Amino acid sequence: MGDTKEACVTEPQRTEQRSDCTLREKMVTVTPYRPEATFQTIGHSARILDPEEAEKLEKDRNLVSDFKQEKLEREAQKNWDLFYKRNSTNFFKDRHWTTREFEELKACREFPAQKLIVLEAGCGVGNCLFPLLEEDLNIFSYACDFSPRAVEFVKQNPLYNPERCNAFQCDLTKDNLLENVPADSVDAVTLIFVLSAIHPDKMQLVLENIYKVLKPGGCLLFRDYGLYDHTMLRFKTGHKLGSNFYVRQDGTRSFFFSDEYVCRLLTAAGYELLVNEYVQRETINKKEGLCVPRVFLQCKCKKPK
Ligand SMILES: C[S@@+](CC[C@H](N)C(=O)[O-])C[C@H]1O[C@@H](n2cnc3c(N)ncnc32)[C@H](O)[C@@H]1O
Repeated sequence: MGDTKEACVTEPQRTEQRSDCTLREKMVTVTPYRPEATFQTIGHSARILDPEEAEKLEKDRNLVSDFKQEKLEREAQKNWDLFYKRNSTNFFKDRHWTTREFEELKACREFPAQKLIVLEAGCGVGNCLFPLLEEDLNIFSYACDFSPRAVEFVKQNPLYNPERCNAFQCDLTKDNLLENVPADSVDAVTLIFVLSAIHPDKMQLVLENIYKVLKPGGCLLFRDYGLYDHTMLRFKTGHKLGSNFYVRQDGTRSFFFSDEYVCRLLTAAGYELLVNEYVQRETINKKEGLCVPRVFLQCKCKKPK
C-alpha cells in the first residue's frame, strides 16, 4: 500500500483558498521538507500525466467482474481485519502532521481552556489518534474503525486512556454513529485515508453519518489519495473496479480523488468547504533511484452553524 511512509508534511504555505468546485489555479508553493523528498507543492492543479502514464491509464479499461466486486464489498471488513492480522501495528507510520494541522483547528475552541472533542473516523491502529492526544492534553477523542482487530490494537496501546479516549467498532457505511457519540457534540472529525477504502456509492452515507455528530460550526479534516498518485499508476490490469477505483492484492480497495469529486461529495452532504487542495511531492526511492510522484488531497470543511 502506498501510504506507509505518508507521515509528515511541513507547514503548508497555501495559495488562496477556494470553495467552488471548478476554479483552477496554478500551484505556487514549493516547500523543501525532508531529505528523501525533493519538494512539495500545495494548490489546485491536478498532476499532469506524461504521455506514457496517460496511455497506460487509457488502456486499462477492463473492470473486475460484478460478481467479484460484490464479493469485495461484502468482505470489505474481513479484508481490513486480515490486513491488521498480518501487519499488526507495524504498517502505517504515526501521522504527526495532523497535530500541525490541528493548530488551525484550535480555532474551534471558543475559549483557550475548552476541551476539544474529536472523532477519528476509521482510526486504524491509532497512528493519528495517539500523536494527537499526546500533543494536546486538552482533547477527548472518540475513535472508530470497522476492523475489530484494529480497535483492539487501539485499546491495547499503552497510551490508551479511557478518560481521554473512547474507541469502538463501527462500520461507517451502515452503523449509526449516534449509537456511540451524542448528536452535535464533536468539534472536529478526522477522516484520514479512509474514504478511499469505501465504495464510491457509499461515501455520501459516511459523510452524512459524520455530519450528525459534528457540532454546528465543527470541522471535518480530510486527507486521502489524490488523482494520479504514484500508487494509482502502479496497479496492473485486472485490478480496476471503476473510474479511479482499484483493488489491491489483499482485497482492500483504493479510490483516487480529484478536488472536484470531493467538493461535490462534501457539499452534497451539507458541509461548507473551506480548503480543498492537492498536496504533491516527489519522493526519491533511493534503492531504485526513482523519483516517485505522490499526490494527496487535503480538505477542511465545516458544518454550518
Ligand atoms: C488506510 S487505513 C487508515 C487508518 C488511519 N486513519 C490512519 O491514518 O492511519 C483505512 C482504515 O479505514 C478503515 N475502514 C475502511 N472502511 C471502513 C468503514 N466502512 N467503516 C469504518 N472503518 C473503515 C479500515 O479498517 C482502515 O483501518
